[in-house]
Amino acid sequence: MPASANDHHQAQKRHGELCAALHHHNYLYHVLDRPEIPDAEYDRLFKELLQIEIDHPELGTPESPSRRIGAPALDKFEPVRHTHPMLSLENAFNDQEMREFDARIKRFLATDAPIEYVCEMKMDGVAVELVYRDGVLVTASTRGDGAVGEKITENVKTIPSIPLVLNRPCPEILEIRGEVFMDLADFQALNRNREEEALATFANPRNATAGSLRQLDSSITASRPLKIFCYGVGEVAGELPPTHGQMLEKLQRLGLRVNLDWTRVQPDIEGVLAYYRELSEQRDRLPFEIDGMVVKVNHRSLQHELGEKTRTPRWAVAYKFPPRQAVTTVEDIQLQVGRTGAVTPVAHLKPVEVSGVIVSRASLHNWDEIERLDVRIGDQVVVERAGDVIPDVVKVLAEKRTGSERAVPLPVKCPACGEPITRLEGEVVPRCNGLSCPAQLKESIKHFASRGGMDIDGLGDRYIDQLLSLGKVSSVADLYFLSTEDLFEFDRMGDKLAEKLLGAIAASKNRPLPRFLAALGIRHVGQHLAKVLAHQFGSLEELMRASREDLQAVHEIGPQAADSVVAFFSDARNRQVLDRLKEAGVVPTAEEKRAGGPLSGKTFVFTGSLSLFSRNEAKEMVETLGARATGSVSKKTDYLVAGEEAGSKLEKAQKLGIVILNEEEFLQMMKERT
Ligand code: IVH
Repeated sequence: MPASANDHHQAQKRHGELCAALHHHNYLYHVLDRPEIPDAEYDRLFKELLQIEIDHPELGTPESPSRRIGAPALDKFEPVRHTHPMLSLENAFNDQEMREFDARIKRFLATDAPIEYVCEMKMDGVAVELVYRDGVLVTASTRGDGAVGEKITENVKTIPSIPLVLNRPCPEILEIRGEVFMDLADFQALNRNREEEALATFANPRNATAGSLRQLDSSITASRPLKIFCYGVGEVAGELPPTHGQMLEKLQRLGLRVNLDWTRVQPDIEGVLAYYRELSEQRDRLPFEIDGMVVKVNHRSLQHELGEKTRTPRWAVAYKFPPRQAVTTVEDIQLQVGRTGAVTPVAHLKPVEVSGVIVSRASLHNWDEIERLDVRIGDQVVVERAGDVIPDVVKVLAEKRTGSERAVPLPVKCPACGEPITRLEGEVVPRCNGLSCPAQLKESIKHFASRGGMDIDGLGDRYIDQLLSLGKVSSVADLYFLSTEDLFEFDRMGDKLAEKLLGAIAASKNRPLPRFLAALGIRHVGQHLAKVLAHQFGSLEELMRASREDLQAVHEIGPQAADSVVAFFSDARNRQVLDRLKEAGVVPTAEEKRAGGPLSGKTFVFTGSLSLFSRNEAKEMVETLGARATGSVSKKTDYLVAGEEAGSKLEKAQKLGIVILNEEEFLQMMKERT
C-alpha cells in the first residue's frame, strides 16, 4: 500500500473510533447526565477528532460529533430521588376547619399565644424541584410519588423564568420547590393554535403544563409559555433567614421567581381568614388559575418543631376554593368544522350557572375525550369552569342513566359539506377534506375579516352566513366584488347598511402587510409570525418567491412554518385567490424593511462550518444592523460568508460574482458598522 493511502486508512480508522467514543460520552453526559470520563478527557478526544478532520476534510461527515449542537431527545425520563420527600398538603374547606388547624398547632406547641402565618396563593400547576449546586442549576425533577420523581432538567432549562445560575453569595446546596404553570391567556392562545392545526386541545392550563414538561424533546417544551413561582426549599447547605416570609424574599434576591405580590404575613388565624376572602374575590381577575390559599406557620423554627406526618406537614394547610362545578344535562353533541377542516365535538347543555356564569356549551376537545368520558346525548354530567368561560365536561354521572341516552358515533361525513371525514394515524382530530366545504369557507372568511386580520368592520357571522347561503362568495376575494344589489338580497338590508358594509370592505384594501398575511390563515402563521415574515421579506411578492431555505433562515421560522408557507403559495387555488385579490385592488401596504440600519437592505448567506460564531449569532448580528440572512445564494445575495469546507454555495457565489468573506473579515465588517 502506498504511504499516503496507508495514512488515510489509519486516519479513517481512528476517526471512526473517536466518533463512536464521543457519541457515547455525549449521550452519557447530555442525555443521561452520567458522564464516565472527566471533561478534560472529553475535550482531548474532541480536539483529536477536529485535527483529523482538518487533515482529512473528506472524513468530516455531517454525523460527526464535531457538528453536533445541543442535547438529542431522550427516549425516557430518568428517576430522581428527592433528598427530602416532596410532601403534599392537607385540605381545609371552610373557616371552621381552618380554626381547627390553628387549634391543633397551638396544642402541639403547648401555647395560647397567637400563631403568625404566611399566606400564599395555591398555584394550580405542576410541582417541580430545582437543585442548585454552587449556584448552578444541576437537576430539575417532577414530584412523582413524593420520594422519587422524573428528571426533566433539559426541559426546565428552557423556562425563561428559571435561572440557570443564582445571584451570589448563595448557599452551596439549595433545593428549590415551586409550581410551574401557564397563564390563562397563554393557555388559550396555545389551544387556539392547536385547534387551528387540528391537534388535540388541552382541558386546562394544568394539563397543558404537565404535557409540556413531560416532553422527551426539550425544543417542544421551549415553545410552550411556561412560568414558575417558587414557594419553598428542600435540602439547604448554607444560611437562610428565620421566617418563611423572609426566606421567600431572599429567594427572590437570589434570582428566583416568587409570588411576593400576593404573599401576606398575618399575625393570627383571623387575619388568615380575612385574607382568604380577599383572595376569593380576586380569583376571577387573576391572570392564572389558583385553587386555594396555602397557609404556613411563618417561623421556620416552629415549622421544624411541628414536623411532619407521613405525607403532609403539620405546619401548613391548603384552604381550598370551592370548585367551579355544576351538574347539568347534555342536550346535544354537535360537530364544529374549523377553518382547516378540523372537526371538533361540542356539547350543548341545559343552561346552568357555574359560579356566577351561565353556561350552555362545553368543549369536548376531541374524539378520544368523548370515548374516555363515554359521554352520550341525554347524560347528566359534571361541568367545570377551568380557566375559561367555556367549561369542560369532567365526569358523566353514569348511575343517573335511564337507558334513553344516545352515543355519538365517530362522524364519517362532514356535517357541512357531506365530504368524507378522515382521521390520520396518530392524530386525534378527524378532518373534513372537502375542497369547497362551506363550514371551512365560513371560518376562513371570518378569520380574514377579523380584528387581527383585515379588520372589516361589521362583517360578522350573520352576514357571512347570508353571503354563503346566497352563493355570493366562494373565496375571500369575492368579498371585494360585491355590489349593493348583491347585498339587497339579504334579510333586512337597506341602502345605508349596504353602503356601510361595502365601505368597510373597501377600506380594508390597503391594510399593512403583516395583517394581510395573518388574514390569509396560512397554517402555523399567526399574527406574530406574520409580522416576522413581513419584516423580513418586505412584500408579498418577495415572500411568495422565498424558498424553504430562505424561510428557515429567518429567526423564529421553524421547518413546519417554512413548509406551510411554501405549500400555501404553491397551491394553485390559493394563487388564484391571491390574483383575484390583486385584481380587486387589494394591495397590502409594504412593510418598511428594517430601515435605518447601516446594512439595511443587504442580504447575507452563511455557509460551511463556522468556528468563531454560530449561525444564529451571525444572523442576529446582521439583523441588528438592518440586513437579513437567507439560506440560499441568488443574484440578490450581497455577501457570502464562507467557513471551512464551504461547498456548492461558495461555487455558486463565485460564479455570480458575489462578495465572499471569511469569518474574520465578516467580524471585522460587523465591528466597523456598529
Ligand atoms: S407548599 C410542605 N405552597 O400544592 C409544603 N404548595 O397539595 C408542600 N402548591 O404539591 C407544598 N402552590 O404542587 C405549597 N404556594 C404553595 C403552593 C403549593 C401550589 C401545590 C404543590 C403541592 C401541592 C400540595
